Amino acid sequence: MATVKTKSVWFCKECGNESPKWMGRCPACGEWNTMVEETVATGKKRAGTEITVPGSGHKPMPLADISSSVENRISLNNNEVDRILGGGLVEGSLVLIGGEPGIGKSTLSLQIPLHCPELRTLYVTGEESAKQVKLRAARIGGDDSGCMIYSETLMENIVAEARAMMPDLMVVDSVQTMFSQNVESSPGSVTQIKETASMLLRFAKETGVPVILIGHITKEGSIAGPKILEHIVDVVLQFEGDNRGTYRLLRSIKNRFGSTSELAVFEMTGKGLREVSNPSEMLIPMHDEGLSGVAVSAMLDGTRPFLIEVQSLVSSAAYGTPQRSATGFDVRRLNMLLAVLEKRAGFKLGVKDVFLNMAGGLRVSDPACDLAVVSAVLSSNFDFAIPSDVCFAGEIGLSGEVRPVAQTDRRIIEAARLGFRKIYVSSFSSLDDSSESSVQGKTAGQRFGDIEIVKVADVPSLCRSLFKGQ
Ligand code: TYD
Ligand code: MG
Repeated sequence: MATVKTKSVWFCKECGNESPKWMGRCPACGEWNTMVEETVATGKKRAGTEITVPGSGHKPMPLADISSSVENRISLNNNEVDRILGGGLVEGSLVLIGGEPGIGKSTLSLQIPLHCPELRTLYVTGEESAKQVKLRAARIGGDDSGCMIYSETLMENIVAEARAMMPDLMVVDSVQTMFSQNVESSPGSVTQIKETASMLLRFAKETGVPVILIGHITKEGSIAGPKILEHIVDVVLQFEGDNRGTYRLLRSIKNRFGSTSELAVFEMTGKGLREVSNPSEMLIPMHDEGLSGVAVSAMLDGTRPFLIEVQSLVSSAAYGTPQRSATGFDVRRLNMLLAVLEKRAGFKLGVKDVFLNMAGGLRVSDPACDLAVVSAVLSSNFDFAIPSDVCFAGEIGLSGEVRPVAQTDRRIIEAARLGFRKIYVSSFSSLDDSSESSVQGKTAGQRFGDIEIVKVADVPSLCRSLFKGQ
């Protein structure tokens, strides 16, 4: 047998791009300092990489002849997860759950089989011992009758066990700990990660068993990971959230079987992750009326409207350079909004410290929050409270104009549903029922309920409307 030769190649940890020599910047994704050296075998025929999907045959066939029956979906007894998957887990799909360490990936992927005892699940763990999984299962509760735990990291063994057991669902925790004998490099390296994922993909497509694969992401990108896998897997779900806070967001980034703009909200409790089916109720004010510096924004994340409390504190700068700090919001955008307030509305905030916080540890990128941010800043600056039944949805442009935002109607409906009495929107918003007077005063049950819609064209008119009677 010919001896296996090896050579060194460099891989980008971010995108998996391969290069024969080290480079400071990856030419494919443009990231700096991401190339790592790995040894790969040369001259060896790679173990079969072809994927056979049962029923599709090996030959090209006319598209018209391919059966288009809807894919079989398995419900996971978890409304939030089912929803972001597009209505359940598709048979034979490979789902990647990514997120920072400690955010709840293992908890969610163990919770799913425990809450679906009717599914025979193979839970492969390379991170924890079987005993640790048992302890976690005891914490989460549920029925473990359908769940087999397998503590192993060698992919060949895992696939062989899975083929023998033919489970209804397979979970692999995590891609960074698994390795295959086909590849020379160590677990967690780019080549091993790709090999692990393609072995699991092959298994899933050939047998129809859905596989949930867990992958770590670190902020510094110091572990090669999910980015490289995004094009291999069918679905990518990403966990976000501050892992000190209790809320966790699960976002679908890629979904071959559903929409990618879905978002699920969970709360980490002592007994695992709890579904938050109505996020607005958790994120809006939980204090008495009359606090200044608080404004509620009707924001949209993905396709889902929810209301979030924006908190601001404006105080005189203690040091020469005023501080600007934002948690959950882009600080550059905050600076821009403060500049607009200064230039277009004449508020002298240049000498003030401004702190901004999005309640619940959420990270917000919807520009519709601008209006609430500006209102919260003004409210804190002048120490007047915005009534707690008022909310905002509008983007602010550089000339101080309030711009309309996507799906204003849905935001208004959500606000009305939660009992808000007044919402500020852009006067350029085209609502289905655009005449203001006809919208106001409608009785509950009609299109917008009895929420008053206040249209503002620019920051000065917002201030006039807010300060009226103060
Ligand atoms: P984990 O699922 O282990 O994170 P990951 O697999 O993404 O690294 O989550 C770990 C955190 O969740 C840990 O800090 C403990 C906490 N936790 C709870 O608060 N409640 C629970 O019921 C469980 C199981 C974990
Ligand atoms: Mg884990």
